[in-house]
Amino acid sequence: MSISTLTVPLGNRSYEIIIGKDVFTQSLAVPVVSPLLANRGCFVITDENVQRLYLKSVKQFLINLGVRYLGDYAFNPGEKSKNIRTVELLYDKMIAAGLDRKSMVIALGGGVVGDTAGFAAATYMRGIDYIQIPTTLVAQVDSSVGGKTGVDLKQGKNLIGAFHQPSVVVVDTMVLKSLPIRELECGLAEVVKYGVILDEDFFVFLEENISSILKVNQTVLHTIVHKCCSLKADVVAGDELDQGRRAILNYGHTFGHALEKLMSYTGLTHGEAIAIGMGMAVDLAVMKYGGSELLSLVKRQDNLFQSLGLPIRFNRFTPHEILSAMYTDKKYIDGELNLVLPEKIGKVIIDSETGKDLIKRAIGARLD
Ligand code: GLY
Repeated sequence: MSISTLTVPLGNRSYEIIIGKDVFTQSLAVPVVSPLLANRGCFVITDENVQRLYLKSVKQFLINLGVRYLGDYAFNPGEKSKNIRTVELLYDKMIAAGLDRKSMVIALGGGVVGDTAGFAAATYMRGIDYIQIPTTLVAQVDSSVGGKTGVDLKQGKNLIGAFHQPSVVVVDTMVLKSLPIRELECGLAEVVKYGVILDEDFFVFLEENISSILKVNQTVLHTIVHKCCSLKADVVAGDELDQGRRAILNYGHTFGHALEKLMSYTGLTHGEAIAIGMGMAVDLAVMKYGGSELLSLVKRQDNLFQSLGLPIRFNRFTPHEILSAMYTDKKYIDGELNLVLPEKIGKVIIDSETGKDLIKRAIGARLD
């Protein structure tokens, strides 16, 4: 499989996702990307790690297309850069490089780069276009698709932001070869999420391909990225502004975000936190609804996470501390505490009526 494309169907904000191996060196993305860049300047935003690995080839790709390359800027890697001060710095660089309302920002990196550069693009001169080139698995299967951009405040993650859809998402699965294993696993937690919430056949595919996944087999990874993007495109097309069904993408996240926050975002990756969070969510579903299908899901989800090197239990904090942290999550500040609970593999519901005692019991069942 050399290249595949998908559309995120959003009327006049529709865009393509191009997925392939060595997309830039083989110039497979040219037919889609080239028309988007005609007669406009472009500016690449990345971080220092990605700059070292990929900026040169992406820059060469853009120059070969004949675009006006206005410059690039790389900020410090990591979540601590995802703040309004970085965005202000980006505005300075963008002004200095001469970006106007027709210019194109290229977000080259993982979730932090995509969200921060996307937010800078969403707000610069009241909004300019941008292209996502995600370089981590989390970004390729989740954060680069759907138009959520934003930065963190000291009070919490993603509290400032805007919906701003990219003009195209270009995914090169070869970059996953250079990802540290812990980062790959972080993305795999999101991948498993898609199987549980939307697609039993995909869940089975993951169960049957564990060793190829861990060897970063390109055919298998291509299938995974394509499937996740296709499932996400469908959800986003039905609820672009996250008013309802899009919340299913937060399966395990309300629990996971609480763990990350209590850990001050160190020592536990986002993927590890949501893997444990999905364990808490499925345990809660079993306590609430029971039934053999859910019991089988608990086993299969736990086995899959363990085979992929992800944790399913945690040994810090009390149920009360974790529940309290859940009530400071953005999803709660937005309104009520909505929990995504599975009914069986491939089907979830959004629940806002579970009592705190039962939630604490489910949390406690995953703590050592
Ligand atoms: N990452 C969740 C969403 O895009 O809605």
